[in-house]
Amino acid sequence: MKMYRKMLKVIGSSLLILLILSLFWTLAYFVSGILYTWIGWQPHDLVQQLLGSVLGFVLFGIVVSIVSPHFQRRQNVYFKELTDALHRISQGDFQVRVDPFGRRNPDDGPFNTIVLSINKMVANLQELDGMRQEFISNVSHEIQSPLTSITGFARAMTYEELPREVQLQYLQIIDAESTRLSKLSDDLLRLASLDSAHHPFHPENFRLDKQIQLHILAFEPQWLAKEIDIEVDLPEISITADKSLLSQIWVNLIQNALKFTPKGGIITVSLAQEDDRVVVRITDTGCGMSHEEQLRIFERFYKADKSRTGSTGGSGLGLSIVHKIVDMHQGSITVNSAPDEGTTFTVSLPIHVNSSPVN
Ligand SMILES: Nc1ncnc2c1ncn2[C@@H]1O[C@H](COP(=O)(O)OP(=O)(O)OP(=O)(O)O)[C@@H](O)[C@H]1O
Ligand SMILES: [Mg+2]
Repeated sequence: MKMYRKMLKVIGSSLLILLILSLFWTLAYFVSGILYTWIGWQPHDLVQQLLGSVLGFVLFGIVVSIVSPHFQRRQNVYFKELTDALHRISQGDFQVRVDPFGRRNPDDGPFNTIVLSINKMVANLQELDGMRQEFISNVSHEIQSPLTSITGFARAMTYEELPREVQLQYLQIIDAESTRLSKLSDDLLRLASLDSAHHPFHPENFRLDKQIQLHILAFEPQWLAKEIDIEVDLPEISITADKSLLSQIWVNLIQNALKFTPKGGIITVSLAQEDDRVVVRITDTGCGMSHEEQLRIFERFYKADKSRTGSTGGSGLGLSIVHKIVDMHQGSITVNSAPDEGTTFTVSLPIHVNSSPVN
């Protein structure tokens, strides 16, 4: 269809040029006729034709030289518009949109290809700028709330008649909020580093079952305190991957399962090999999530049901870090959950990863 339109255009413009030239030659024919009668000279047919052709060219040249500056001016004005727009974009104005040149179809001609690319680039920059602003406002908010608690409770501590147990309670809150701030800064640095192209990625061969088991044991005080039953099915499986990065996946997922499962719940961790992949499933009998919440949990700073997560103290970065690391290993992570019924996170990783395609 596009080819057909192109051919029609070429034929149309050739016919137009032929028509214009014929017009000039006809004009030259009549003008030279009038000139010969006026000077009373009737040259030979051949000379008449030669002089007519020359006159046709001269008339054509005169008209072109009168009309072309007009087009040149239009082009210059348009170039100025383009450079002004680019200047405004470089100053951070991402509302700029450039109109197509002339009254042409917007995706027609070399000018408009450039215009389309500029408009597309500005739209992308605008989206990135929106994300940057949202990120800054999220970070500020996440910093502000623990800081408010810390200053509030530190001031309250200055009352001399405060009973000792209340003082201890306030100190615990200050301690928890400081830990939260420090974790936030660690997570932000980790995400920035994972996003950069220079994050180290060192695959090695190791026993995945042992690694997961160690992390489960490290959380023993928490699951014992909440009287949570941990069921494990960890057959001996080795994997080639970045050990320290994978460790962050298990820490985040186990921590979430512990955090969102009430007292007396059950957490099941299983590992299996499926062809050339290993699949880790972490299931809990916790509060679960709605379908809409599940769609957003891998976004940075997203916390499902803020009223519920307010007391748990997270900043909503854990799963974005997990997602990033899974991507770096060419793996996948899925969530299956229902409110009040529990959640299962399934991580599938290739058994051998030698380099990261993401960085
Ligand atoms: N196992 C789970 N059960 C129920 N909800 C969960 C579970 N895991 C994650 N979520 C929901 O997904 C949200 C995002 O999880 P994520 O780990 O990214 O953040 P967080 O745990 O709130 O904070 P952080 O991990 O930064 O300390 C959580 O706030 C929670 O609402
Ligand atoms: Mg988390």
